[in-house]
Amino acid sequence: SYTFEHMEIASYTILIAAARSLGETEVLRACEENLQEEVAMADWLKSRLPSTTEQFLARAEADSDSAKR
Ligand SMILES: [Fe+2]
Repeated sequence: SYTFEHMEIASYTILIAAARSLGETEVLRACEENLQEEVAMADWLKSRLPSTTEQFLARAEADSDSAKR
């Protein structure tokens, strides 16, 4: 999901440049709003990467323990 958000960020950055070049102010405004949402989501996902990893490892360990019994 974090990687995908960055693909979206790149796409909106391209669309913003194109809209600016073409004088499409309404498209430019909408894309800038969407870009900020994508940046916020990427930041949120990044902030959860460590805890998600730790939770995954804890569950994997728990699953591994129960499989041994
Ligand atoms: Fe997104």
